[in-house]
Amino acid sequence: MKIKSTEFLISAVKPEQYPPENLPEIAFAGRSNVGKSSMINMLLNRRNFARTSSTPGKTQTLNFYEINEAFRFVDLPGYGYARVSKDQHKSWGGMIRTYLSKRENLLEVVQLVDIRHKPSLQDQEMYQWILDEGFNGIVVATKADKLSKSQISKQLKVIQAGLGAEARIIIPISAQSRWGKYEIWDLINSIFKANDYDIQVERQHDS
Ligand code: GTP
Ligand code: MG
Repeated sequence: MKIKSTEFLISAVKPEQYPPENLPEIAFAGRSNVGKSSMINMLLNRRNFARTSSTPGKTQTLNFYEINEAFRFVDLPGYGYARVSKDQHKSWGGMIRTYLSKRENLLEVVQLVDIRHKPSLQDQEMYQWILDEGFNGIVVATKADKLSKSQISKQLKVIQAGLGAEARIIIPISAQSRWGKYEIWDLINSIFKANDYDIQVERQHDS
């Protein structure tokens, strides 16, 4: 299918606010500022659809985006923002874990990490929650434009070592150079296929 419609549905903090479970969802997790919203914009060829900001920690809600009235992307609240209190950290964890554990129509949670950095303790914690819920542990390494080719391959190994043996698939991307977009769509299509959904999105060429 081509992408014909993209709609922001809701910013939710609790399950009562989630949209109905009638459509499959793919969620994106990662620390604040890692580039979750930028990746969603890149995938959908939209500039300012999923809100991006230079103020980390802005997205403190689960944001649901519906594509073609066929499937949804879910932008999970970012973590690791230094200025959050312990209470905020707890409520963030509760929000994410509730969604991961209860959501029947959630097909996969993709973990985003910054390609320049060794995974933080919170990245490791988040990644473990993803594995604990039975997801595959697919990783996207963002901001690859900031490194050279040789640094990229070196950092992919650092990330793999930091997250552990389950991190078999790590895809480097750059939302800035629009690099890795086809790989992510191929990945998303393979997730639909593996879950017996008849959804295959055409490669989104830059407009
Ligand atoms: P929160 O919503 O706060 O959790 O952040 P986020 O993960 O959604 O990050 P966002 O997409 O808002 O990006 C944060 C900052 O990083 C913005 O200034 C983006 O322009 C920048 N950024 C995102 N992706 C890339 C990338 O691939 N390359 C470069 N150079 N900058 C990027
Ligand atoms: Mg965001």
